[in-house]
Amino acid sequence: MESYRLLMIGAGRMAEAIISGLQNQNPSLFSSVTVANQTDERRLINLAKKYNVHTTTDWRDVINEVDVVVSAVPPQAHSTILEDLDSIGYKKLFITVAAGVDPTFMESKISEGTPVCWMMPNTAAQVKKSMTTYVCGRFVNDDHRTIIHHLLESIGDYAELSEEQVHDLTAVTGSAPAFLYLFCEALEEAAVSYGLDEKQAKLLVTKMISGSAEMLETGITANELRDQVTSPGGSTAAGVEVLEKGHFTELVQNAVKATNTHARGK
Ligand SMILES: NC(=O)c1ccc[n+]([C@@H]2O[C@H](COP(=O)([O-])OP(=O)(O)OC[C@H]3O[C@@H](n4cnc5c(N)ncnc54)[C@H](OP(=O)(O)O)[C@@H]3O)[C@@H](O)[C@H]2O)c1
Repeated sequence: MESYRLLMIGAGRMAEAIISGLQNQNPSLFSSVTVANQTDERRLINLAKKYNVHTTTDWRDVINEVDVVVSAVPPQAHSTILEDLDSIGYKKLFITVAAGVDPTFMESKISEGTPVCWMMPNTAAQVKKSMTTYVCGRFVNDDHRTIIHHLLESIGDYAELSEEQVHDLTAVTGSAPAFLYLFCEALEEAAVSYGLDEKQAKLLVTKMISGSAEMLETGITANELRDQVTSPGGSTAAGVEVLEKGHFTELVQNAVKATNTHARGK
């Protein structure tokens, strides 16, 4: 496979998840990796030591020497970056992992014909278990897709959706881990109230969640699995009834809607 030169703009958690994933899964995809951020030079020194990458505090210095740019900076930084890329005349592959920065927006800012891709990973990218949704712009060809797929597989699983769907599903794949962690916190609190210390409570809940996730991975539906645990009139049924009376399903769906409404408002 051909080898490309990568520029990563941003040196935060998501940038590191991708760099580390690439080193483990696809070490030969990029012949060189340069990481850029603006202010935190110590972070760059750490990444250089850990992953043997090049670093810079101004990505514009190296832009003419790279084939692929991945942006892992906050969404609001993208207008400036895309306008700068446009004025420099960059027309190679540009990928962003920033919430809400879709191909329509990118193509309106960058030179006509530039291939762009929007990936929405989640926090589990840090352990190579992200469920990433993505959508490509109009000028992405098969060679670009190969690079995109290698990047995606280095942080977990992935699904190609329409631009609208990536927006709408960001709540389900991107934000819902926070909903699940809130659920875990509530269960941990319950365990502590029965006399466990916090460490034990965390272990119990973590193992319950990972076991349940593994059961889902077998392909049995969530509904069937719930039925298996909930005998009619039994004690689990009494607990589920409380959740249903509290409109649990509706509450979760409202949380998804609120997330999407907020994201669209930006
Ligand atoms: N973490 C996640 O689970 C997750 C999931 C999905 C998507 N994302 C997306 O990934 C992107 C990065 O998230 P993160 O969690 O890695 O954040 P982070 O750890 O806070 O890192 C952000 C990086 O962006 C740089 N930066 C901040 N403001 C900038 C600006 N105005 N211009 C250029 N660079 C700037 C920061 O360094 P300097 O300030 O030193 O430049 C830092 O290197 C965000 O767009 C986020 O929406 C994150």
